[in-house]
Amino acid sequence: MSDPQNLHDYEAPAAEVLEAGALGYYAGGAGDEITLADNTASWSRWALKPRVLRDVAHVDTSVELLGRTHEHPVLVAPMAYQRHAHPDGELATARACAATGTTMVLSSQTTTPPAEVAAAVDAPRWFQVYVFKDRAVTADLVEQAVAGGYEALVLTVDFPVGGWRERDRRSGFTVDKPVALNTSGSPTSTADLFAAHDPSLTWDDVERLAADSGLPVLLKGVLHPDDARLAVAAGAAGVIVSNHGGRQLDTVLSGSDALGPVVEAVDGAVPVLVDGGVRRGWDVVKALARGADAVLLGRPVLWALATDGEAGVTHALGLLRAELENALALVGCPRARDLDASFVQPAPWAGPVP
Ligand code: FNR
Ligand code: LAC
Repeated sequence: MSDPQNLHDYEAPAAEVLEAGALGYYAGGAGDEITLADNTASWSRWALKPRVLRDVAHVDTSVELLGRTHEHPVLVAPMAYQRHAHPDGELATARACAATGTTMVLSSQTTTPPAEVAAAVDAPRWFQVYVFKDRAVTADLVEQAVAGGYEALVLTVDFPVGGWRERDRRSGFTVDKPVALNTSGSPTSTADLFAAHDPSLTWDDVERLAADSGLPVLLKGVLHPDDARLAVAAGAAGVIVSNHGGRQLDTVLSGSDALGPVVEAVDGAVPVLVDGGVRRGWDVVKALARGADAVLLGRPVLWALATDGEAGVTHALGLLRAELENALALVGCPRARDLDASFVQPAPWAGPVP
C-alpha cells in the first residue's frame, strides 16, 4: 500500500480489501449517521492555546490509570468480529498493542476467545463485557478474562438493543465466527447476534459484576452527567464517555461534547475516558486538557488491521503517538499528565457554544 501518513490514510486501502458487508458494518453508524460525522468534527470545535519557551526537549506521553502507568493515553477500543477484517483478527491487534505499549480492550463479540488472546500475547489488557440474555455465556467470558489476567472489565451500557443500522440491513452482512454465542458456525446476521444482548440490565448488575469478578469495572457508553454520578455511586472504577462510534442512537452528543459535564459530575472520583472520532494527536491533547484521563481509538485500528494485519496496527498506533508527541511539544506541555483547561478554549470558528 502507499505510505500512510496519518490515521485517515488507512481507510481507502481498507475499503479496497474488505468485503462490502464487512466494510459497511465497520464504517457505518446509526440512522442518518449525523452523530457518526459529528464525532470527528467535534474535536475541531476546540482550539488549542499553546505556551512557548517551556523546554520541550523531552516529551513524556505517559499517564496513570487504575494504578498502572500507561506509556501513552490511547487505548484500543473494543471492536467486534475482527477476523472479518483480517485472518489474524484480535490476535494481530493484541500483538500490535503489546508492541506499542497500548492497552487493548477485547470485545465480548470477539472472534478469538479471551483465553486464546491471553495465552498468545503477554501484555496488559482489559475485557469488554456484554451481558447476554443467557447469563452463562457472560459468566464464561468473564471467567476467561479473570483467569487470563485481564486487568479491568469494561461494561458497555449503551447497547440494550442494537442501533438502527441501515447499511447492515441493506448489505445483509453476516458473521460466521463469533465465539461467545453458539451459532454453530452458521452465518448469523448482526441483528440476530445483537438480539442476544440482555436489555433488562440495570444499575444492580454493575455492582454484581464487580463483586463476582473481583476486577475494576468501568462503564462505557455514558453521556449524561447524572449517569456518571450514578456510576460512581454504584462503585464503577471509571467512566467511558462514548456514543459507541455513532452506531447506536443517531443525533446523540459526541463524546467530546459530553465530556465536560461528565468530568464535572465525576469530580475526580474515578478516571474518565472518552472516545469517538479521535483521529489526531492534537485530539488526544484536547481530550486530556478538558479532563479526560485517556482516550480510546476505534475504526482506524480496523482499517490498519484490514490493510496490513499486525504490522498495520503497529504502524497506525505509532503514527498517533508520534503526532501526540509533536503536539505536546508544540502546545508547550511536555508532560501529557500536566495538560489542563488552560490549553484549550471553544474554537471561534465553531460558532457560539449552545
Ligand atoms: C464498535 N464498538 C464497540 N463497543 C463495545 O463496547 N463493544 C463492541 O463489541 C464494539 N464493537 C464495535 C465494532 C465496530 C466495527 C466499531 C466501529 C465500533 C464501539 C467502539 O468501542 C468505540 O466506542 C467507537 O468505535 C469509537 O469511535 P471511533 O474511534 O470508531 O470513531
Ligand atoms: C457494534 C457492537 C457489536 O457493532 O458493539 O457496535
